[in-house]
Amino acid sequence: MNKKNVAIVGVTGYTGMELVRILSAHPGFEISAVTSRNCAGQALQEVHPHLQDTSWGMLAVTVPEPDLVSRDSELVFLAVPHCKAMDLAASFLESGVKVVDLSADFRINDEKIYTQWYGPKHKHPEILGKAAYGIPEIYAQEIAEASITANPGCFPTSVILALYPALKNGLLQPGGIIVDSKSGASGAGRVPKTGTLFCEVADSLRAYSPGRHRHTPEMEQELSKACDADVKVSFSPHLVPMNRGILSTCYAVLDKKISENEIRQIYKKFYRKNPWVRVMPQDKLPETRFTRGTMFCDLGIVVDERTGRLIVISCIDNLCRGASGQAVANANLMCGFDVGLGLDQLALMP
Ligand SMILES: NC(=O)c1ccc[n+]([C@@H]2O[C@H](COP(=O)([O-])OP(=O)(O)OC[C@H]3O[C@@H](n4cnc5c(N)ncnc54)[C@H](OP(=O)(O)O)[C@@H]3O)[C@@H](O)[C@H]2O)c1
Repeated sequence: MNKKNVAIVGVTGYTGMELVRILSAHPGFEISAVTSRNCAGQALQEVHPHLQDTSWGMLAVTVPEPDLVSRDSELVFLAVPHCKAMDLAASFLESGVKVVDLSADFRINDEKIYTQWYGPKHKHPEILGKAAYGIPEIYAQEIAEASITANPGCFPTSVILALYPALKNGLLQPGGIIVDSKSGASGAGRVPKTGTLFCEVADSLRAYSPGRHRHTPEMEQELSKACDADVKVSFSPHLVPMNRGILSTCYAVLDKKISENEIRQIYKKFYRKNPWVRVMPQDKLPETRFTRGTMFCDLGIVVDERTGRLIVISCIDNLCRGASGQAVANANLMCGFDVGLGLDQLALMP
């Protein structure tokens, strides 16, 4: 197989580190450049000691200078914070390098909504319309044709996969959806903050940004497309004392009387060509540990007959399925590879 050179901008972060894990075993991609402003000049093994004495460990970390990175790369993964990715993406696209952006900068189609939730004015609204939204189960064709893919957020990945089939099949009322999510601490990134110190996270559980989290408009945008109606989501994430993993419990009002088993069959049919989404059998519910380090999204389906609600419980790994694994799936499609190349074997990891 002819390997394609790919670069990681932001290799010292958690998603950058996860990209190295996945790409180092990928048969179609070669890591050509890795960047960090703070660690430029070091070998990658100095930054990530688990790469000691491997060929990737010897890679030199460089500054995130697009001209330098573009020289030898066909595609770049931007694993940097939101608001920092947009200028980088524009420069890479101008040099003819394809982009998979792990940040939120190109996920929201409407620049006004982006500014409302993320703060600054979008500097490259002209690119917003070109970016495919990177959920391969829904947008494989658009992703394959795109020069830039907006990799979805980790919470939105878990929630969109959980509710999309029900909304698409007209089973739910679009208003009044409630999502309660739990995430491990790696979701907050690697930059040290008081709130993610061991003693602040261990042995406790807390909500953050209830009703105001930035992933809300992304969920509403994509779920509205599923049913062609204005979906509203009340979203509250919680920080739990684990390193990685997300469990989202989604509650929605059913629009008609339908059995749990019928809904399960609708979901299985919707995802029949997508083995990464596993619909649990009756009386089985997903757990984060069964998706750890993989591309799986496990869905548990429950009908609460008393209240007329559908409850979908969704588990993913935030760093793999919710970020870097999904980014590699999108890169696969953009480079003409099978979507699962280099990813399906991750299922065999503990
Ligand atoms: N963590 C998750 O579970 C997760 C899931 C889905 C999506 N995401 C998104 O993925 C992106 C990366 O997340 P992360 O958790 O890996 O973050 P992180 O751990 O904080 O790492 C950020 C990386 O970006 C680099 N960086 C920071 N500012 C930069 C700038 N202005 N220009 C170039 N490089 C810069 C940092 O290195 P230097 O500062 O040394 O340059 C570092 O390597 C974020 O947009 C995040 O929202 C994260």
